[in-house]
This record gives sequence, structure tokens and C-alpha cells, in this order.
Amino acid sequence: MYWLGIDIGTGGSRALLVEEGGKVAGDFTAPHEDMRMERPLWAEQRPENWWEAAQAAIRGVLAEKKATGADIAGIGLSGQMHGLVILDENNEVIRPALIWCDQRSQLQVDWINQTVGKENVLAFTANPVLTGFTLPKLLWVRDNEPKNFARVRKMLLPKDYVRFKLTGGYATEVSDASGTALFDVVTRQWSSEMVEGVKLDPEILPAVYESSDVTGEISEEAAAATGLRPGTPVAGGGGDQAASAVGNGIVEPGIVSCTLGTSGVVFAHMERPLYDRHGRVHTFCHAVRGKWHVMGVTQGAGLSLQWFRNQFAPGTSYDALTSEAATAPAGAHGLFWLPYLMGERTPHLDATARGGWIGVTAKHSRADLLRALLEGVSYSQKDCLDVIEQMGVPVELVRASGGGGRSPLWRQLLADVFGKKVATLETQEGSAYGAALLAMTATGAFASVPDACRAAIRETSSVSPRPHESQIYNRGHEVYRALYPTLRPIYGLIEGLG
Ligand code: XUL
Repeated sequence: MYWLGIDIGTGGSRALLVEEGGKVAGDFTAPHEDMRMERPLWAEQRPENWWEAAQAAIRGVLAEKKATGADIAGIGLSGQMHGLVILDENNEVIRPALIWCDQRSQLQVDWINQTVGKENVLAFTANPVLTGFTLPKLLWVRDNEPKNFARVRKMLLPKDYVRFKLTGGYATEVSDASGTALFDVVTRQWSSEMVEGVKLDPEILPAVYESSDVTGEISEEAAAATGLRPGTPVAGGGGDQAASAVGNGIVEPGIVSCTLGTSGVVFAHMERPLYDRHGRVHTFCHAVRGKWHVMGVTQGAGLSLQWFRNQFAPGTSYDALTSEAATAPAGAHGLFWLPYLMGERTPHLDATARGGWIGVTAKHSRADLLRALLEGVSYSQKDCLDVIEQMGVPVELVRASGGGGRSPLWRQLLADVFGKKVATLETQEGSAYGAALLAMTATGAFASVPDACRAAIRETSSVSPRPHESQIYNRGHEVYRALYPTLRPIYGLIEGLG
């Protein structure tokens, strides 16, 4: 038998087949359309396109393994978090989804803080409300597109729209619900205080499950569309970060992950829901039953490199770009990159922050620009790690993952910048793998999520911080940290210009 993990990412949807015991048997990725960015800091995708890609990925992986739906014992979903999918009474998507990195909703965030009270929001949800979260996006639609808002019958998160297409049920799970600003992270249920406070109809919210619960079964219609067997159980799964943490074995205290995808995330398991009083990191429910996690987010991690490639080196591979960066020295001759291409979350919580290189001279080469870019993202991830450690969450070892984590240069940079050992895992399949392990737990192949991780996850290698480079990066991080407060007044001025 196989289990299927399906990840609805930003760039594409991926289906991963996993065998008993946790060995990966095959995978297939179908790309998404590019996100639509009508204005700076706006970002939309079509949910229908996620569903098309998910069907292609499922069919693709089954064909690749010559497997049929009857070989699949269970399915787990993971996906980009925070996105707003709204459905009308006929279950039609009302408008394109405002996705996780869309930053248009500052006015709505301010309104929520005034109406509900900033302290109350923190008390009700364990987090401040941020422009990236789902609720202010919904309120943006209410304020700016009243006709669309009047048609809303259900609000779903990205992977839960695909769940709806697979099972016909409206459901989510605790880790993804945590990023909506409508969820009581401590008691693991929708926050009636928030829902009432912003005057929403609670009927629009889906049912919430634990991540390793079965939420529904493959419908006849979905079976015909995908080749899956009707009745196959679909587990809750997780938001991409919680699912990826399961895939990386971040299910007990002490080991944290650093996942460099489009965004960059430092993630730690928590036995209790501790939170940063400034709200600089997110305290969310973990995909492990009755546990929590904390994560710090760099908005433009892999995105920085992707943007560089698209603008200055189209067609060049990421490997070639990181090899080029390796030819420049540590510190890139005094050059700094601020990765604020989509504003910044940790630690600044500033949607207006803008990126850029600081310190360019005529001497700098393209290799320096690239090296500074990798270092700037690493400094930003160090900012995340620092907040988490300041909260008293133990950090003994970092496991690197995501596209960026596959680069030996970037892993060494992280070790040097963090001053911590950075390990890699045998299976680097991220969120889709975690989703499959959650499906295995939901269908009884493992007794619990930590059991699944103990059985399936192994470290292969690790790198340690190098003293000389760490020293350079300690000094570099100080300079990096001084740049944002210095530039902050300028961002407001730039905003008016477009
Ligand atoms: C997490 C977050 C990103 C997105 C896209 O808070 O916004 O990880 O889920 O990957």
C-alpha cells in the first residue's frame, strides 16, 4: 500500500507517494500559474488552478508508479497558508485568492486592532493580526468589493479548497486555522470573540480537525477526476510549515528547522503555547495533537534568489547561481541585502518594508551581489532564531530544508550565521512528506505523529559553524540589524510613489 501527501505550494502542487515504513516511492509536481501582482505587494492566484494542478500531480504520480487508486490507503494535504478562498452558494470561487504574501490589508488590520483591541486580539488568538493573515484579507473584500462579499457562503484556506474538491466537505485543521486571525490557538477552536468582534457570520467557517484526524473521504466525482478510489480517507494534514516540520521531525523540544522555500521559516516545537509579547513570531497549533509551535518568517527568502534569477540571469539554474556566490568572500566585501521584497514579518512586522542592496561600490561583482543576497536571507533567519531563543524555547540543532536547504553553501552559511550545527535529512521532501506521515497516522499505520517521525526520519550529515566566518557574520548581523530602523522612515516616503 501507499499513502499520498499532496502539497499545494505557491509555485506548484506536488503529490508524493510513500510506502509503509515511510520510504518515498515517487513524486510528481504540476506547476501553478504565476501569481498575479496587479500592484506592488498584491498577490493573487486562482484556486481553480490549484485544483487543476493537484489533479495533474495525483494522476502523474499514479502513472509514474503504475499504481491505481486502490493502492492508496490514505491521503494527507498540506499547502501555502493564510490565503483567502471564498465560495458562493453554488460552491463557485467568487474571486481569485489573496495569497499569503499579499500585503494590501493594512487598513483592515488597523480597524481590527481598533475595534477588537490589540491586546484582545493577542489574548483571543495568541498572535497579533497581520496583513498576511486571512481575516484582514476577507475584510478587505468586505470593504472594497461589497458585491463579492455579499455572495460569500464559505471561507477556505488553499489546501482546504482542494480538500473540498476531493471530498465535498468544508474542513480545515488546527495548524492552518491558526494563521487566520480567527482561531483560538490555546483552546484549538474558532474564536467566537474574534468572529463576533468583526461581525462575521460563523457559518462561513469550515469545521476544524486535528491534523492527524480523518476529515472526509474521496468522493465519486473526485475519484473520476483523479484516478483515486472513492472512499479513500483524507487526513487533516497541515499548513505547509507545520507539515514540513513533521516531515523534518520537528515534533519534540530542542531541534528546530530552517526551511528556505519562497519564504524562509525558522520553526520550533512547543509543549505549551508560549508567545512573544511583541508578536514578532507566530504561535500556532502544531500538527502534533495537543502541541504547539512557534515560527519566525522571512517573507522573501528563496523569493530573493528567484527574483534575482528572473531579472538578471533568466534560464540560469539555482545551483549555478549559488556556485557563483561561493566565489565571493564571506561578507561579500561589505555588501548587504535586505530581503524585504514582500514587506517583512519577523521581526519587523512591516508590510511597507522594501528590499535592496546596501553598500554597493564599483568594485562589487555579480558574485558579491549573489553572496550578499544569500547572507541577507540568512541574517533575517537569524533574527527569527534570536526571537525564538529569547522566548526561552531551546535550540540545540537546526535541520535545514526546502530548496535553499539543499544548497551546501547556504547550509554552511546558516551554520556560520546561526552559530549552530545545521543538519540535513535523508528524506528532504518537506511538506508533502509531512502530509503523507499525517495520513499514515490518521489511518493507523503509526500510533502517533512523533512515532511516525521516529520511524521514518534520519539525519545524514551536518555542518558546524566555522569560527572565522562566524566572527565575520556576527559583525555583519549587527550592521544588518541597524539597517532596517535607519531605513524605516524612508519606506513611508517610497510607498506614495508606487
Ligand atoms: C507561513 C507562510 C508561508 C506560506 C507559504 O506563515 O506564510 O510559509 O505558507 O509558503
